[in-house]
Amino acid sequence: MSQAVQTLDDMVRRQLGELLFAERRIEMLLPQLAEGTSDAELVGTLERHLDDTRAHVQNVEEALQALGEHPEARRSPAVEGLERELEHDVEEIAPHLRDLFYATRAMRLEHYEIAAYSSLYAVAGALGEKKALRLARRSLEDEEHALRALGQTAERLARNAAHEATAA
Ligand SMILES: [Fe+2]
Ligand SMILES: [Fe+2]
Repeated sequence: MSQAVQTLDDMVRRQLGELLFAERRIEMLLPQLAEGTSDAELVGTLERHLDDTRAHVQNVEEALQALGEHPEARRSPAVEGLERELEHDVEEIAPHLRDLFYATRAMRLEHYEIAAYSSLYAVAGALGEKKALRLARRSLEDEEHALRALGQTAERLARNAAHEATAA
């Protein structure tokens, strides 16, 4: 197998390509999640984060262009796994737990992005690659903000479900 990543610079490009794949997939998934959701607060969080995500796609494309690259997504089996897991498992979830299921699965996607942008931040930081660094920092803030909102919603939905279970 050829070793396409020989330098830190190559690694930044690789990470950006993977992020482009992740952000585009998440841009497709968020409306699907919102559509399956009946909780108004969760829908609001998903829709607001869809706006963030559209900007993230553009920012990653621009960062690749700034490095002289054609913005090409690099397939990520991890993201595809999260996506498959989401689509496959939803059938097994009782309707009254679906919102909670979607909130927690959206949290997994955010955790992936946080890990990916933190990694980019580390490598771009060592390189002094300012554009990629700025992009990583800004997107990280959005992802962490979305994760917090999703986490709070998941906690509320889980408390409600626990309450209903004991009241039944
Ligand atoms: Fe994102
Ligand atoms: Fe995100």
